[in-house]
This record gives sequence, structure tokens and C-alpha cells, in this order.
Amino acid sequence: MQKYDYLIVGAGLFGCVFAHEATKKGKKCLVIDKRNHIGGNVYCENIDGINVHKYGAHIFHTNDKAIWDYVNQFASFNNYINSPLSISKGKLYNLPFNMNTFYQLWGIKTPNEAKEIIDKQIKEYGFKTPQNLEEQALSLVGKDIYEALIKEYTEKQWGTKATNLPAFIIKRLPVRYTFNNNYFNDAYQGIPIGGYNKIIDGLLEGIDVKTNVDFFKDKNTLIDSANKIVFTGKIDEFYNYKYGQLEYRSLRFEHEYLKSENFQGNAVVNYNDTNVAHTRIIEHKHFEFGKQKHTVITREYPEKWSLEKEAYYPINNNENQTTYQQYKALSLQENNIIFGGRLAEYKYYDMHQIIASALQKAKQEFSS
Ligand code: FDA
Repeated sequence: MQKYDYLIVGAGLFGCVFAHEATKKGKKCLVIDKRNHIGGNVYCENIDGINVHKYGAHIFHTNDKAIWDYVNQFASFNNYINSPLSISKGKLYNLPFNMNTFYQLWGIKTPNEAKEIIDKQIKEYGFKTPQNLEEQALSLVGKDIYEALIKEYTEKQWGTKATNLPAFIIKRLPVRYTFNNNYFNDAYQGIPIGGYNKIIDGLLEGIDVKTNVDFFKDKNTLIDSANKIVFTGKIDEFYNYKYGQLEYRSLRFEHEYLKSENFQGNAVVNYNDTNVAHTRIIEHKHFEFGKQKHTVITREYPEKWSLEKEAYYPINNNENQTTYQQYKALSLQENNIIFGGRLAEYKYYDMHQIIASALQKAKQEFSS
């Protein structure tokens, strides 16, 4: 086998950005992924002209001009603004919580009226030192918003009562006293025209890539093939679960092709109530203002995680953090292995954060 400078395990955003930067420095890289495609969780499958976000809705947003310029090298972005809706007890609400939501909840029209209701409910139902997610949410937004738009959605998402969840899961709940449905506050936002694959293809141009290759199935040969490894898979798996398994929440995506033009009129609609098993329906064409005569929708179901399922959201409790810190300590002793990305760092990262983190790792690596 040819000797590479870097074997990069995982063709997600982290691996691809690192490979791109290493190649720019004249290094020879091999990128492998156990899936049958590149791109990791940002991968889009083109179904009859519609880019389907196979692993959940991905909206790019950042406040960092340098990261925005970085991704714009590979694709132009459209001006999609994420403005999700939520269905609760048969009624439709705008998100994030803003004057439109307050009008839908209470029929009020001015910021002062909304503020008065929310402040009164926080006083009445809030807690000085919230002990769980329910108490925290009540202390931040009061009873009506919590009950209509947070409680059941969160319980479905995490598969347990809100009173069993730690308060720190919700640090802030942005409440806006303007009629502004833009979910993000960031200066830059959009969807890459042509889908995320365009960015991934650009990052990996000229780099050797092998899909359907699981690092652990042929570890020794793969290790021998390169001087250094960049590992973006699960850190606990790397160390053969010697301190135990890190836990995740999983998701199941059910994609459906419909011969109608417009299913829900919006890319993202949340389903709050527990009597509906899915938490969201995504209608992909609306991310790119598609005009096709057909559409593709995806229902997203939160699921209990087990080893054979995809790991999506780290369960950030003390036990898992303690276990992760043990694995991290081991990883810091490695000389020729760089750990990075959401699975190796056991951390939820947005795309702009993962790109920043890979650029930072590459900078450290190539400045010495
Ligand atoms: P990623 O998981 O993408 O890549 C890791 C790769 O390693 C995978 O392809 C995997 O197959 C491979 N791998 C693992 N083990 C291996 C092995 N043993 N051998 C070979 N290959 C192996 N962010 C955002 O900014 N806006 C958004 O709207 C969203 N939306 C969103 C929705 C959902 C449902 C989730 C779960 C996440 C988001 N994100 C997001 C976050 C975004 O998905 C995330 O930041 C990046 O995909 C992380 O990239 P990584 O490269 O770290 O992991």
C-alpha cells in the first residue's frame, strides 16, 4: 500500500476540511469512510432534482466572516432564512418565540402586552434555582409558551419527562419582542446552491478517497498506510470501549416522495404533541425554493440509541462526561493520532463550529 502522510478516518466536514488544508500544505492524504458516501451527516441525496438532507435538516449559519468566506470558496449560498413553524394542539405557531407567536398564543399585538404576560407568568411559575428542565423553562418564559411549545417536544426529543432532564440543557430561551421569524441571529445564513455535496466535493478535489471502509475492520493495514491518523469516529470505539460506552440519542428518518407540488409550504415544521411520534417534518425543496411538480418530505423520529444505530446527540450528563474525560486523557498521550469532530470529541457542534475546529487543528499541525 502507498504511504500517505495522513490517513483521515471519516469523510464528514471535519475530515474533509482537515484533508483539504493538509493537501494545500503538500501533504498526501487518504480519506476513508465506512458509509457508502462522503460528506458525513451533511450529505444530500439528489432525488429527482431535490437535494434531500439524508441526516436531518442542515442550515448553514455563522457570525464568523472568515468561515463564511471559507465555505463560499466551494459553493454559492442562496438567501434561505430558517423560519420554522410548530404545530401544537392543532394550532400553528411561528418560531422562534416572537411577536407572531405571542399574537397566535394570546391575540395580543404589542410588545408591552406580550412582556406583561410573560413577566407575570415567570413571577407566578418561575423558580429561583431551577432543579430540572421544566423549572428552568418556566423560569425563562412562563407557563403558556412552555406548555404549548416546549414541554412535549422536548420530552419526545429526549424520551423522558422534562422534570427528569437537567436544567442546563436549556441555558437561554430567546424571546423576541419583534415580528421576526428568523431562527438564527447570525450575520450569514443560507443553503449551498447545489447542496452540501458541492462543498464536500470541492474540499476533497484531488484527494484519494475510499468509501465503504471501516477503520476497525482493517485497522492494522490502514494504520501502516500513513504516518499520522486523523480520527473523527467515536472515541470510545477507538479505545475498544475500555471505560464503557458513551451514550447518545438517536434519530430515525423516514423519507417520502410525493407526487404533489407542495406538502407543507415551509422547509421545517415541528410537531409538538406527544401523540404524534415524529418531532419534525422537513420538506427539502423549500430549502432551495424548488419549483418541481413533486416533493420529498422527511419525518424525523427521536429514538433510543444502541450500538448498531447512528449516534446523533451526545447525552451530556455527568456520567458520560466523566467517561469522555478518561478517553480524552488517553487520546492526549497519542503522538501520531489527531482526534477531532463531533464523535471523537463527544460534543454537539454546528457546521461552522466544526469547520473552525478543523481549521484550528490544521493550523496547529502545520505551524510546527
Ligand atoms: P460526521 O458525523 O458528519 O462525520 C464523521 C464521519 O466519520 C461519518 O461519515 C462516519 O461514517 C465516519 N466514521 C465514523 N467511524 C468510522 C470508522 N470506524 N471508519 C470509517 N469511517 C467512520 N449544524 C448546523 O450548522 N446547522 C444545522 O442545521 C444542523 N442540523 C443538524 C441536524 C441534525 C439532526 C444533526 C444530528 C446535526 C445537525 N448539525 C447542524 C450538525 C452537523 O451535522 C455537524 O456539525 C457536522 O456534520 C459534524 O461533522 P463531523 O465531521 O464531526 O461528523
